[in-house]
Amino acid sequence: MNPVELLRSDLSAAGYTVPALAGLWGPDAAEALHRDQRVPARRALDALRAGRSDLPAVAVLADLFVLGRAVTLPELAVAFPALGVQGAADLGFVSIDGGQARAALDLRPYSFEDTAGAGSWWIASDLGELATGGALPEDHVLGVGGASLTLSGLMFQAPVDSVLDLGTGCGIQALHAARHARRVVATDISERALAIAAMNATLNGFENIEFRLGSLFEPVAGERFDRIVSNPPFVITPRVDGVPSYEYRDGGMVGDALVEAVLTGVAEHLEPGGTAQLLGNWEYHDGDDGLPRVRAWLDSVGLDYWIVEREVLSAALYAETWIRDGGTTPATPDFDRLYAAWLDDFAERGVSGVGFGYVVLRMPRAGASVTLTRTEQQHGPLGDIEPRGVGAHLEAGLAASDWLAGTDDAALSAARLTVAGDVTEERHYWPGDENPTAMVLRQGGGFGRAVTLDTALAALIGACDGELSVGAICAALAQLLEVDETALTADLLPAVRELVRGGILSPSSSSRG
Ligand SMILES: C[S@@+](CC[C@H](N)C(=O)[O-])C[C@H]1O[C@@H](n2cnc3c(N)ncnc32)[C@H](O)[C@@H]1O
Repeated sequence: MNPVELLRSDLSAAGYTVPALAGLWGPDAAEALHRDQRVPARRALDALRAGRSDLPAVAVLADLFVLGRAVTLPELAVAFPALGVQGAADLGFVSIDGGQARAALDLRPYSFEDTAGAGSWWIASDLGELATGGALPEDHVLGVGGASLTLSGLMFQAPVDSVLDLGTGCGIQALHAARHARRVVATDISERALAIAAMNATLNGFENIEFRLGSLFEPVAGERFDRIVSNPPFVITPRVDGVPSYEYRDGGMVGDALVEAVLTGVAEHLEPGGTAQLLGNWEYHDGDDGLPRVRAWLDSVGLDYWIVEREVLSAALYAETWIRDGGTTPATPDFDRLYAAWLDDFAERGVSGVGFGYVVLRMPRAGASVTLTRTEQQHGPLGDIEPRGVGAHLEAGLAASDWLAGTDDAALSAARLTVAGDVTEERHYWPGDENPTAMVLRQGGGFGRAVTLDTALAALIGACDGELSVGAICAALAQLLEVDETALTADLLPAVRELVRGGILSPSSSSRG
């Protein structure tokens, strides 16, 4: 067995898993760790240590890699019976000094669920700020963070032949993609990231991922893929001396130019019908909305697009967030200097805010043209999207848009629709009133959409049982409400389209054609 396989056998024998860690220190300490607070978990392990002569292997691994403490060499030997103390050092996981070992890389269990079932991996990356206790080095290789989880949740999962993961970092997206593809190409500008990602692939038994070094689409020039995923280095950074340029989040371009390059570059690398799921930041200039800026990038590249903006940060909040993310603490001279540099850059270029969101792109099938050019702001919390992630909702949204594109108003009138199972209706009454003063439809999953209803739309939705056509329901409502049927239908059809687009109504199987 090679050293990474020995490592795998040791981690597996130790039972180094997410539930095992939670079992070591309990739910409160686990929650504290999510807030980057290690004290409760450390106290739990101290109590375990005090009660016995030797720590179990899983506790040694947890102390070393999750809680960032030194362990003794005999303890390390318990954790790595096959790999050995020297083997763990040679692989770069620990540094040994004076009879003690410290973590030199982050290594933690990771669990998830997707259409292929539940999975559990170990992911190595560079040590974070909590372990190093200071600002990160510029070549830091990121572990699995919030944005990583967001993108893996967006990823479409229908089986495909090929996937490109651009900017693979520790390889987390490539690993997810490799469960649903015959082959994956994972690229990065960082040799160190590629080495760690390749180790993670071996550690978790993947043989269908190829790692390539290079910037943006250079390593895949002339190639096309069925799916592209990327959590690109989208963070906007001032290009002045003294501001660190972190490889893991910053592609070295001015403003949001890197995001533009990635989004537009996709067009040269998708197979017909192929899709891309990406994350990005876009600038708001002089108070204007940022989404038209993204539209302008994409309108001429020949791709279907659906951009969902999830939040907008003011220039100041954006600067604070990303300076802090690099490990520079507030109320220090360095923090203030960097803050000023960010605000200068934003002021010079007229940037008033920065949007963040999800991007879904699709290459039209051969001979077809672009049918989807959709941008929307969904700034609220997501609905309950477990376990498949928001990707399933986006995939259903693409299918709904395709159905709508081929359905004119006459066909929509003839269609039979049903209400999605996660939709509920809220009615609010003034005390004593018989009729509601407000009616709101709420989507339980997806983007948790809320749609305000008037009487006619509420009645139409209530009658969408898959039996009556939309036109028949409109006719009945016109009679009931004593209004003109043509005018009512013309009024309701655009709202019905919007509800289908949002996944609240869907065509019954007989109407899908
Ligand atoms: C935000 S991290 C994403 C890591 C990982 N894919 C994830 O989702 O957690 C961005 C990655 O892009 C890489 N990168 C930076 N500049 C790049 C470029 N010009 N071309 C390709 N990758 C780049 C960084 O080294 C880093 O690994």
